[in-house]
Amino acid sequence: MIVAIDGPAGAGKSTVARLLAERLAFRYLDTGAMYRALTWLAQRRELALDLADELAELARDFPVEFDEDGRVYIDGIDVTSSIRRPGIDRLVPVVARHIAVREVMRERQRTLGEAGDVVIEGRDIGTVVAPRAQVKVYLVADPAIRARRRAADQPEIAADALATDLRLRDEKDAINMRPAEDAIEIDTTDLAVEDVVARIEQLVRAHAATA
Ligand code: DC
Repeated sequence: MIVAIDGPAGAGKSTVARLLAERLAFRYLDTGAMYRALTWLAQRRELALDLADELAELARDFPVEFDEDGRVYIDGIDVTSSIRRPGIDRLVPVVARHIAVREVMRERQRTLGEAGDVVIEGRDIGTVVAPRAQVKVYLVADPAIRARRRAADQPEIAADALATDLRLRDEKDAINMRPAEDAIEIDTTDLAVEDVVARIEQLVRAHAATA
């Protein structure tokens, strides 16, 4: 079974998807980490981020890998923490916008999800990467709450800077941020992580019971 979890930054995707995967004993695939890793490698190689074809080639030549603990590797380097830096936050939408890059990434994401029993988190999972996912969820949350969650993750950055960053990222990500028609929308603004996970788990169990 494939569970697709999409939605904007700060809606709670990562926390929820990770916990859900653990609960279901499914694998967890963080597709945002893949775009982040590619951005990191492009930076390291001083490749201009407007060169779509070169970036796509880089993505093809250096497929992102995950180990069992969810650590992220590209070109054999563990980039798990480097890809969470604010510099990458700001640049990754520029890389993720290129169609040529997305094609390579989506192919790789499908390969990584192929074995099934996986929770895949991203922006376009229910619509493009895994349109046949059995359970599709689109998480949303109030922008102020989303900014506050980001602030809790990155206490070293001023809250207003984070809110501005989030708004700019929303604008840049917007093109790929559309819920699938058959996705269930969950507003996480007033919900505890536990409640969101329980709700999705229910959807998964309901699907398993009818399948
Ligand atoms: O979820 P995240 O913040 O780690 O995502 C990083 C960036 O990658 C963000 O700008 C959106 C983009 N992204 C995407 O375009 N498609 C995906 N499936 C996942 C992430």
